Amino acid sequence: MSDELLIEAAMAARANCYCPYSSFPVSAALLAESGKIYTGVNVENASYGLTICAERVAVGSAIAAGERKFEKLVVVVRGGGSPCGACRQVLNEFAPELPVLMVDELGRISSETTLAELLPRAFGPQSL
Ligand code: THU
Repeated sequence: MSDELLIEAAMAARANCYCPYSSFPVSAALLAESGKIYTGVNVENASYGLTICAERVAVGSAIAAGERKFEKLVVVVRGGGSPCGACRQVLNEFAPELPVLMVDELGRISSETTLAELLPRAFGPQSL
């Protein structure tokens, strides 16, 4: 699967972001080992603290479909910013070495890293 296809999927999902409170759309595309792509968008709530990030929506959707292993994550954020700490932790559960592409609102890669770099010395299943 090319990065371009994954970026395209994340960019397309951006249209479905639900962010009336922050006006800050975030979308994600997660490539599973099966070859399927699972997308996510931020889902905000009138009770602000209940907002769910795009990355966690993508992971939840993939897990619900029976996926357990992941190969790459693309996150589209204005300015190409990186996943929040909560999302890093949730991703670590399934894919501690996950390659992560951060992409800006025009579809340009701003940074290419891994979850291990974003969340060093993580607390995970092996910690229990
Ligand atoms: N957001 C995400 O969807 N993912 C992140 O990793 C960081 C933040 C969303 C949550 C909220 O809807 C908006 O961005 C502003 O914080």
